[in-house]
Amino acid sequence: MTKKAIITGITGQDGSFLAELLINKGYEVHGIVRRVAIEDPNQRYWRIKNNLNKINIHAGTMENYSSIFKIINKIKPDEFYHLAAQSFVSDSFNDEYSTLSSNINSTHYCLSAIKELDLKKTKFYFAGSSEMFGKVHESPQNESTPFHPRSIYGISKVAGFDLTRYYREAYGMHASSGILFNHESERRGYEFVTRKISYSAAMIKLGLQKNLELGNIDAKRDWGYAPEYVNAMWLMLQDKKADDYVVGTGKAYSVRDFANIAFKILNMDYKKYLKIKKHLYRPSEVETLISDPSKIKKKFGWKTKVSFDKLVERMVINDYDALKKRV
Ligand code: GDD
Repeated sequence: MTKKAIITGITGQDGSFLAELLINKGYEVHGIVRRVAIEDPNQRYWRIKNNLNKINIHAGTMENYSSIFKIINKIKPDEFYHLAAQSFVSDSFNDEYSTLSSNINSTHYCLSAIKELDLKKTKFYFAGSSEMFGKVHESPQNESTPFHPRSIYGISKVAGFDLTRYYREAYGMHASSGILFNHESERRGYEFVTRKISYSAAMIKLGLQKNLELGNIDAKRDWGYAPEYVNAMWLMLQDKKADDYVVGTGKAYSVRDFANIAFKILNMDYKKYLKIKKHLYRPSEVETLISDPSKIKKKFGWKTKVSFDKLVERMVINDYDALKKRV
């Protein structure tokens, strides 16, 4: 029997890679998408445009329980990947209420609908985040490290993580959370620092932009390659037992390191172009995140293959080649 999967956030970086992975594995793939996205496919579907004929799109709003309930009831999926969220940490400082309510309620609605429909076979994945560790209590961070979120986004993810565990423990649902550290790719949104740097480096090289404006360049993150992380999500749902897993590379680099390598690839020195801007600093910063992915490695043999240098190179070359074609 063909397996069915629903992905929320299918138009995003992770959703698009996950859709490809599941299509290649023979799944019937369904995506829940806002009506505005359906009305504006050129703008919103660029990451999934090559697979649109293989994806079943459903118009739905994550803020609306009945809309989610109806779609889940219609599909009765084997696997449910809940990736949709307001995922830009910076924005969550300006837009506290909608980040908190939509991130928490959407997770609650999905879990509750699966429970109310008594879909015993449905396995649920929640996209947790290393932002939950925030002001870290230990380094590296593993599944037992206490959470100390430093943003409304982080708080919303801790609540989603707790909801997922609660439904697992209270109702025996197969509900797992991946605690994913930063993961990037050529499909990363332009508001995140890695894409901002790779794109700016390419623009500057081609004479289309003068400077690179950044905030805290000493922040350190554990950056991996996104397609490998969606495979980790899938692996979690293949196990008999639901559980929570830290997913990362185990190595941390600073924003400065990223900029240095990115500009070097195009034979430039980032220091010549860098402008530090106060408004790009966050009111409370997460200074350093570094994962201890030994649990997922031991359980599934999962580990990252694309190195930090290679990741930066892929992103920079992709932006440079695409821009060069356009000018
Ligand atoms: N976005 C951005 N823009 N970040 C900047 C800038 C800038 O101009 N200058 C410095 N930074 C620093 C931020 O302060 C932060 O410390 C770091 O760069 C990374 O920022 P982002 O790329 O925006 O990612 P993030 O770490 O806040 O969050 C991402 O990773 C999480 C997992 O840890 C997002 O993908 C989240 O959705 C995800 O959960």
